[in-house]
Amino acid sequence: MNTTVTIGRTTFANPVLAASGTFEFGLKFPAVANRLGGVVTKAITLQPRVGNPPPRICEFPGGILNSVGLENPGVEKFCTEVVPRTAKLKCRVLVNIAGFTVEEYGELAARLDSEPVDAFEVNVSCPNVREGGALFGQQPQVVEAITTLVRRRTAKTVIVKLTANFVDPVETAKAAEAAGADGVTLINTLFGLALDENGRPFLGGRTGGVSGPALKPFALFCVDRVAAAVKIPIVGCGGIMDSADAFDFLSAGARMVQVGTASLVNPEAALEVWAGMKECAAKNRLTGWEQIVGRARRRGG
Ligand code: FUM
Repeated sequence: MNTTVTIGRTTFANPVLAASGTFEFGLKFPAVANRLGGVVTKAITLQPRVGNPPPRICEFPGGILNSVGLENPGVEKFCTEVVPRTAKLKCRVLVNIAGFTVEEYGELAARLDSEPVDAFEVNVSCPNVREGGALFGQQPQVVEAITTLVRRRTAKTVIVKLTANFVDPVETAKAAEAAGADGVTLINTLFGLALDENGRPFLGGRTGGVSGPALKPFALFCVDRVAAAVKIPIVGCGGIMDSADAFDFLSAGARMVQVGTASLVNPEAALEVWAGMKECAAKNRLTGWEQIVGRARRRGG
């Protein structure tokens, strides 16, 4: 079976990506990264950021909350120190970009356009910043403006990572599609609050983003809804722990999947998801992913 998936100008060897913020830049585990469809980098901003104060992670029975706050080296250091190394990876490299104004997204795309990276994941969904992030992603007209600007500044593949926090992602996915996005990723983490034993906020950033298995049913619901509303490909994300979860996202309408929180527990998780998918595809004599993608609706659901 041909395992490749194409989104925009980018063909991926297989449909499994390492999600942003959970696999660094793909450089710590190159043997894993090289066998994935691709790696999405930690979000990159124009200026370096130290991120939120600790603690930044809080575990709960259904997953974790994170409050990283977009810690990253900034686009210049990323281009000079990181990109020369990610360019040697055998998988696709998608750069997650995050701005604090609409214009900053355009500047990031323009700066990175000449670099040897494959695609952009436009982050309009970070839950852990006071400006930009999910606040942008809650407004379809802002999603449209950001996507339009990025589209103007690059011919590379543009995938917009959406939020489902207090917004219907159908509206923002349509906005991204109208502005020329090649695809959308959904969903980013959901807003959450964890308290310590004294009833005080546990995380240094006060609130965080919820990820892990608890997210999966809602993420699937969002993928299913958005798949019925737009034509551009969807990259499904939210609580994927194994290949059965990944197939659920394809069945709901995603063409690709991202493994996030599972990689924090087991750095080989994304590879294991892909191995399981391959095995299942062979056992069921699949001839193409299109047999699975969107079958939840074809089966009358
Ligand atoms: O806090 C963070 O860096 C999270 C980023 C994101 O969810 O996009």
